[in-house]
Amino acid sequence: MQHQPVEGFSKLTKQRKIDWLISEYLSNDRSYEQILQQYWNNDHDLQKLHDEFSENTISNFYMPYGIAPNFLIDGKLLALPMAVEESSVVAAASKAAKFWLDKGGFKTTIINTEKLGHTHFILNVEPHQLLHFFNFKLKKKLLEATEDITANMRKRGGGILDIKLIDKTSELKNYFQLKASFDTVDSMGANFINSCLEQFGKTLKDEVAKEESFSQEEKESLQIVMNILSNYTPDCIVRAEVSCPIDDLKDDSGISNEEFAWKFKQAVTIAEIEPYRATTHNKGIMNGVDAVVIATGNDFRATEACAHAYAARSGQYASLTHCTTDNGIFRFWIDLPISVGVVGGLTNLHPLVKFSLALLGKPSAQELMSILAVSGLAQNFGALRSLVTTGIQKGHMKMHLFNILNQFGATEEEKQHFVTYFKDKTVSHHEVIAELEKLRNK
Ligand code: MEV
Repeated sequence: MQHQPVEGFSKLTKQRKIDWLISEYLSNDRSYEQILQQYWNNDHDLQKLHDEFSENTISNFYMPYGIAPNFLIDGKLLALPMAVEESSVVAAASKAAKFWLDKGGFKTTIINTEKLGHTHFILNVEPHQLLHFFNFKLKKKLLEATEDITANMRKRGGGILDIKLIDKTSELKNYFQLKASFDTVDSMGANFINSCLEQFGKTLKDEVAKEESFSQEEKESLQIVMNILSNYTPDCIVRAEVSCPIDDLKDDSGISNEEFAWKFKQAVTIAEIEPYRATTHNKGIMNGVDAVVIATGNDFRATEACAHAYAARSGQYASLTHCTTDNGIFRFWIDLPISVGVVGGLTNLHPLVKFSLALLGKPSAQELMSILAVSGLAQNFGALRSLVTTGIQKGHMKMHLFNILNQFGATEEEKQHFVTYFKDKTVSHHEVIAELEKLRNK
């Protein structure tokens, strides 16, 4: 069937939106309405709050919200909130946390907290002429023009750290940037940075128009292309690490400590040199990072983009984690560039985000960076530990068992049967189906 475009969809009431979708796309089957309605919250105010987070909302999309306890991070024992749909992520995090609990836990270091943004513009002038104008006039004007915007941030200890003129004319004709660095303290700072940058764009336009050393033609060549923060923040970065004597690794899978350390290090090295493996390796790290990013109301698309850009900074995509096994010591760490906030955005609005932040002891943005890096490192440790010993399917399918059983409408009694049935075996999809058939035909 050919569908018709809709006019003014956003102005329709929620009910009218649903009616339109059901008639246009869902063959007038009203049972779809019930699916949407069963996720509505009875608390009208809470539902309204969620509706207003986004646009054209017709229901809520649940994610499981789980807890990975026993994370010893810089001497503090934390329980991490994780919003994630993949069945084995929380279990893997909890297992890794427990493994490191009696070995000193995770240690973190904030390396830097600088965020970035650019005014991208085109101007047909000599680069040295523009640099002179920037150094002796424009930079001061840009800072003055943003004083109102930065006043609050400066009171909190942040603000604009620096502005540089970057000559990009060798890569694109007449292309320059104002590259600004910011300290946004406890906020992620996207709105603050973008407001400063938009003001830079306006001030640049005004000041170029007034500048006597530019000809009329040069002035008219100015095009402010865009003013926008960069989600690539290689200098907003945290290191998280674990270490212990190889003798203490004590893996319970039956291989020796030395073999475990050797295989583990090989697995990390493979991810350092092989992009196919690095992609999966880093995906596993982001399983841990994103789950806490989402639970704390931060932007997982931003943290993903930044992590992957950083992983590719050498020109070849590579592992975010590293490992050494020198002098009998196993050391495993991650350098994770990540820009997050604990104020602003959803943090003061979403009740579960408030819960997550309270659970974590109301961390500063820097403390949250540490927690996120640890979550990623722990997740990677858990994945590699399984991969180099038992393989991941044993643990993964054990967690996935309930998804398979739910697909077949298994009862609680049947589920219990399967937990016992697969106690010492790896779960497989076809074996679940075969055993379920046997059970039901009895
Ligand atoms: C699955 O979501 C993540 C893993 O594939 C990560 C890895 O292979 O390192 C288990």
